[in-house]
Amino acid sequence: DLKGFIFDLDGVIAGTAQYHGQAWHQLADELGVTWTEELANGLKGVSRMDSLEMILKAGGKENDYTDEQKVAYATKKNDNYLSLIKQLTPADVFPGIKEFLDDLLANGYQISLASASKNAPTILEHLQLASYFTKVVDPATLKEGKPDPEIYTRGAEILGLDPANCAGVEDAAAGVASINGAGETSIGIGTRSELAEADVLFGDTNELTLANIKAQMDK
Ligand code: G6P
Ligand code: MG
Repeated sequence: DLKGFIFDLDGVIAGTAQYHGQAWHQLADELGVTWTEELANGLKGVSRMDSLEMILKAGGKENDYTDEQKVAYATKKNDNYLSLIKQLTPADVFPGIKEFLDDLLANGYQISLASASKNAPTILEHLQLASYFTKVVDPATLKEGKPDPEIYTRGAEILGLDPANCAGVEDAAAGVASINGAGETSIGIGTRSELAEADVLFGDTNELTLANIKAQMDK
């Protein structure tokens, strides 16, 4: 039985995945790396430095820069990203998310956050959702990023729950792999072609309800 829900942030709670994409696209252009949809999808859910490595690799430039230069590029991307998220308001919370969170709490479920983003606390403040997420995995304390299970394992741990009693909600293939690896129920928001391994799948956040989840799990 499900007792807890562990949420990704970017692309699940709000449309910030798009801003990450925009900021990486701009950096890829500057580095002379061709931006493709495949690259964009592969970056979803992936940590800041791992994302930069993936971009450099896609352009065959993984050996062209020193660690110091890489940190400078990642910082530049983040500054650009921060300027894009400055204007976020509660109106940017995806449809149905607030209702789902309220319903979960009203029904005694526990919730935690498993975002790889170091900007997650800032974004939750902007969206006025910080009070829902008193339990947040700090990505700075992780050894491995998504698709490794570590972040979703920790998401269950901070709730004091067995992973088998937890579901994770994700928009990224790397995130779904992390949830599945942790032994939790994976709920994907997106398309079956992108999130082939999701246990439960919705095309849109407004379909994310306890009744709809139960209906797909019972099938
Ligand atoms: C999330 C996003 C990724 C982002 C990562 C690190 O997982 O989906 O696109 O690269 O967080 O975010 P940060 O804000 O710390 O650079
Ligand atoms: Mg995401």
